[in-house]
Amino acid sequence: MTSQAASVSNRSSATPQLIFDIATGFMRAKHLFVAGELGIFETLAKGPLTLKELANKLGTPQRTTRIVADAVTALGLLERDGDKYQNSDVAQAFLSGCGPVDMGPFIRFWNRLSYRRWLTLEDSVREGQGVAGEFNFSAEEQKIFSEGVEAFSAGHALALANTYDFSQHKRILDLGGGTGSFLKILSQRYPGLEGTLYELPAAAAVARRNLTGQIGRRIEIVEGNFVEDPLPRGYDVVLLSHVVHVLVPERNIELLRRAREAVKSGGRLLIVDFWTNPAHTEPLMAALMAGEFLVVGGNGDVYSLEEGRGWLEESGWRFVEHKALSGPVTLLVAEAVA
Ligand SMILES: C[S@@+](CC[C@H](N)C(=O)[O-])C[C@H]1O[C@@H](n2cnc3c(N)ncnc32)[C@H](O)[C@@H]1O
Repeated sequence: MTSQAASVSNRSSATPQLIFDIATGFMRAKHLFVAGELGIFETLAKGPLTLKELANKLGTPQRTTRIVADAVTALGLLERDGDKYQNSDVAQAFLSGCGPVDMGPFIRFWNRLSYRRWLTLEDSVREGQGVAGEFNFSAEEQKIFSEGVEAFSAGHALALANTYDFSQHKRILDLGGGTGSFLKILSQRYPGLEGTLYELPAAAAVARRNLTGQIGRRIEIVEGNFVEDPLPRGYDVVLLSHVVHVLVPERNIELLRRAREAVKSGGRLLIVDFWTNPAHTEPLMAALMAGEFLVVGGNGDVYSLEEGRGWLEESGWRFVEHKALSGPVTLLVAEAVA
């Protein structure tokens, strides 16, 4: 068989299943989001319930509650034993509010903010930038965003504390540090470490509430715009977690130059992000998240490790190593060049 004939024959054996699997993605997501918003996982945290008991507790009609409960059962988030629903292990651990990590705020963020902005993806791609604006949030939305990002990156913060040895450092500058969740974990794990959270005013307000009791002792908050305002100096390590993906490459180079001025020679730069392969196709989650960073951040994207290394050379840093952290999120470590 010629290679052309083989290719035609392979094509005729193709099925559309992949297309159905991809196209139902929005239905999977929305069932999860609505189950979270209704409080299904929290309500089942204490034990199994019948549909009638569940609907009564939620204050929702049985017929329509069943549609969502059955869908998230099919997706593996609930289990059915006779006529009772119960949380699966994953839902109990991450969605019930009783497990080690509560992903509820993250689900809320994607449902209430991201999902609507994804409706602008086509226009954003045609226009060349996110048409919903750059981090265009009301005060209420800012809280949902900041708390959602914190829940999303909680595992990355823990992995960073376990992977990188901060005992060699005394002062850390967390640029775009969100709610301060990274500094909180790092200062608990490394008692000799002092930290500065640098954030835009609206996000800093959420961080201030979140860090009540910790500010002033070993964590301080500085408000400002990290690509326009002067940055504080005198640090020996700078952290950029989920920040380079909100900016275009030129701004990232400028940000890295500014970060270089914040540390002495030999200081470290830690960039936690969805570093991809050169084609930006792996990891899969990173390739998908590029759309999220475009429609929510306005100008965001994902970048390859090679692109990140190129920025270092232009901004006074030397590549040290690339380390695994948590799933698709990895750590690029660099050192300040004299
Ligand atoms: C995706 S969040 C990451 C938060 C945190 N570092 C984490 O990993 O959980 C990006 C953060 O960068 C902040 N940010 C974006 N542009 C900024 C700017 N120009 N100056 C200061 N902070 C900025 C946002 O307010 C937001 O909190």
